Amino acid sequence: MGAAFGSDLSFRTSRLRCGSVNSLFRRYAGGIVGVHSRLAGFRDLSPGERRAIAAKSAGLDPGALDVLDPAAGLTLDQADHMIENVVGVLGVPVGVATNFSVNGSDVLVPMATEEPSVVAAASNAARIARIHGGFATTCSAPIMQAQVQVLGAADPHAARLRLLEARGELAELANTQDPRLVEFGGGVRDITVRLVPSGEDVYVVLHLVVDVRDAMGANAVNTMAEAVATRVGEIAGGRTLLRILTNKADLRLARARAVFDAEALGGSRVVRDIVHAAALAEADPYRAATHNKGIMNGVTAVVLATGNDTRAVEAGAHSHAIAPDGRYTSLSHFERDAEGNLSGSLELPMPVGLVGGATKVHPVARAAVRLLGVRTASELAGIVAAVGLAQNLAALRALATEGIQRGHMSLHARNVAVTAGASPEEIPTVVARMLTAKAVRADRAEQILAELRAGAGAAEGD
Ligand code: MEV
Repeated sequence: MGAAFGSDLSFRTSRLRCGSVNSLFRRYAGGIVGVHSRLAGFRDLSPGERRAIAAKSAGLDPGALDVLDPAAGLTLDQADHMIENVVGVLGVPVGVATNFSVNGSDVLVPMATEEPSVVAAASNAARIARIHGGFATTCSAPIMQAQVQVLGAADPHAARLRLLEARGELAELANTQDPRLVEFGGGVRDITVRLVPSGEDVYVVLHLVVDVRDAMGANAVNTMAEAVATRVGEIAGGRTLLRILTNKADLRLARARAVFDAEALGGSRVVRDIVHAAALAEADPYRAATHNKGIMNGVTAVVLATGNDTRAVEAGAHSHAIAPDGRYTSLSHFERDAEGNLSGSLELPMPVGLVGGATKVHPVARAAVRLLGVRTASELAGIVAAVGLAQNLAALRALATEGIQRGHMSLHARNVAVTAGASPEEIPTVVARMLTAKAVRADRAEQILAELRAGAGAAEGD
């Protein structure tokens, strides 16, 4: 393609010859009110210019994203307060995906990823989606659940009913743990009880079903589960053991759909082959795992950039990929619509928050949330789903056409050249020679560098 992994999307190293940042502003944002995500030539700018333009295009101060400069990001002191035994911080590239329109509004999407071509691929898919209106997203209420496990109940069936009879008492006890959440309209919405037979026992498992509003919610529901556990054990007539949220967040779903124009994708054959590619993922768990990984390339990048819990989102996604018949399958669907365009849809659990945790304390995460301009966790969840769908489409399009390696390799070659010690001036030559020789390897890069430098040394000696 292009696309996910295609050469026409690879970020160029050459910089646009441009004047001051102010003249860039006029070019990208001049006179336009509201966020706009179509930033032609964005890839040709320097990281500092991109930050300023992205901020301005999102209606922020030009310096609003400056904490994304590694020199200004998370300090060691801040990191030391986040986890234990801190020895340093890890730098992960943060890119901005362009072209996204979600529910009729443009949005610039921060993505943290170490994988080349992911940001370009998402941007390209979003450009194609714009032709038919961009992404439409919906979310369920922000409902998380915690489980309380009871062992040794003599009469598990009756214990279940006794717990359901005590619903009001247990909900009240749980809600007193988080009066602020209740004040903001959240709190316990329901209590359900399941019997889970195992080799050891028939466990009585109580679920607290909690509206966590704009939090990811793990702390809120875990505190509630611990608070009700003793009473749950008394009522059930057993001993309580686990009191913890479930990451199978199947009551907190985000959904995204988009129509991808057939012509822009490359024609009706490409549409047909993408449908076949998606059908294999639906039918075959071996393909589904890779297909879903492609979705998570986009999802995880936005979740990480916003300081959310990537493992929670991934655990939720993969648990959602189990079909009712127990098969592991794809999270997304691709169909040919009545006009012959490609209709894509994705639904997955999206336990992300805007309050608490790294999202609030990590300066880069805070800047990422500002760039997105989201005010609720549900808005964020919808955008993440849209990026997942875009990423998935881009990968399928590449796979259904030229394959991913051509685009992938040119970006990979850059990394190999840098690792071999190539200077910014040497990189293009080293990359070009490795690609021509179809040998993108460290030893080849070192050999090319040695030849280049020997040649330059000889020229200087002349
Ligand atoms: C690579 O990171 C992701 C893909 O393998 C996804 C897919 O195969 O659909 C290209």
